[in-house]
Amino acid sequence: MEQAAAHAPYFSVGLTGGIGCGKSTVAELFAARGASIVDTDLIAHSLTAAGGAAMPALLAEFGGAFAGVDGALDRARMRALVFDDADAKRRLEAILHPRIRAATLAAAAAAGGSYVIFAVPLLVESGGWRERVDRVLAIDCPESLQVSRVMARNGLPEAQVKAIMATQASRQARLAAADDVIVNDGDIAALAPQVERLHSIYLAFSKRMATIPSQRL
Ligand SMILES: Nc1ncnc2c1ncn2[C@@H]1O[C@H](COP(=O)(O)OP(=O)(O)OP(=O)(O)O)[C@@H](O)[C@H]1O
Ligand SMILES: [Mg+2]
Repeated sequence: MEQAAAHAPYFSVGLTGGIGCGKSTVAELFAARGASIVDTDLIAHSLTAAGGAAMPALLAEFGGAFAGVDGALDRARMRALVFDDADAKRRLEAILHPRIRAATLAAAAAAGGSYVIFAVPLLVESGGWRERVDRVLAIDCPESLQVSRVMARNGLPEAQVKAIMATQASRQARLAAADDVIVNDGDIAALAPQVERLHSIYLAFSKRMATIPSQRL
């Protein structure tokens, strides 16, 4: 925790949780209270959109056929390639990961909020995040609720939701990695007091950091 604080000039939280647990819902509640939300999925997506910063390197590496007619990455084609080709997956990640990281940190540095929340769905699964944030906040709910929420939201069959969940860290692994937990197993109204409580604490930490001068004490 102290490591991240030593590098970044802002207090930061990594917000994670399994599909459908309520990350986006909770992030909005923090944003309404003045936190800056940096959405790593949105950033990753924008890098491979038409004109995205990763597109020239991706097309140079994999060929022009990997761009769709709109100029964005042909995601289906790329998914099919990396599905059973570990080397292609590695080359894809070598292009994407440093760019995602740089764009994410740039967005955080430019954010005007009282502190930064990085929304990282696969924080527990992907290396490196733990050292970069001051706190890991997991949004937790029973797996049965993940299934029913995502079925309702995306119109997916139960088996497909469960297949996605099987590719993610288990509920126990996420809870073990978390410093803080918001339980989202009731109605939406039950989230506000939990968000309020953590926001006050995060705000206090961020203010304390703001008063620590950058020179050696
Ligand atoms: N406590 C709740 N009660 C009822 N519905 C909820 C509750 N929390 C979230 N939802 C609904 O469940 C769905 C999933 O929530 P949300 O989109 O916030 O999850 P998420 O973790 O961001 O999912 P994803 O991993 O797909 O981004 C949404 O349709 C949301 O409105
Ligand atoms: Mg979401």
